[in-house]
Amino acid sequence: MAMNKESIYQALLPQLRSLIEGEDHLVAVLANTAALLHEGLDHFFWTGFYLVEGDELVLGPFQGPVACFRIKRGRGVCGSSWQQGQTLVVPDVELFPGHIACSSRSRSEIVVPLRDGHDRIRGVLDIDSTSPAAFDDTDRKYLEQVCRLLGQILR
Ligand code: SME
Repeated sequence: MAMNKESIYQALLPQLRSLIEGEDHLVAVLANTAALLHEGLDHFFWTGFYLVEGDELVLGPFQGPVACFRIKRGRGVCGSSWQQGQTLVVPDVELFPGHIACSSRSRSEIVVPLRDGHDRIRGVLDIDSTSPAAFDDTDRKYLEQVCRLLGQILR
């Protein structure tokens, strides 16, 4: 029987904890986190990170098709999540003003800010799906936990 989303996230969190216990190199940990989520939730189309550099987000470790390199603060879903300091769940990307279409196949997405121990936003976790309305409060709850765990390696 296929596992439901909640059980998949519950199984992934301990794996993420052990990844973080064994390594504290940011790019290495983000790369394996993207792989863990992308493989675990096999309906994700693009799973990855953008990292804050100055006034923009720069592409970080990810799984999926080629994506845009840089996103200005306040632009698109990623830049808006950073500016607003909150998770954004977008059921239909075409209805999101200023959405940046890295792929025309992306239909819905969730973006979660990644904060360090001083509560500064250092990047975002961005996940896209080719299905409309693919993300809900379960994704928000667990992906925010993922970002809180990752915060431990952001000093
Ligand atoms: N759709 C995002 C851009 C990043 S890609 O989807 C990987 C946005 O509007 O922020």
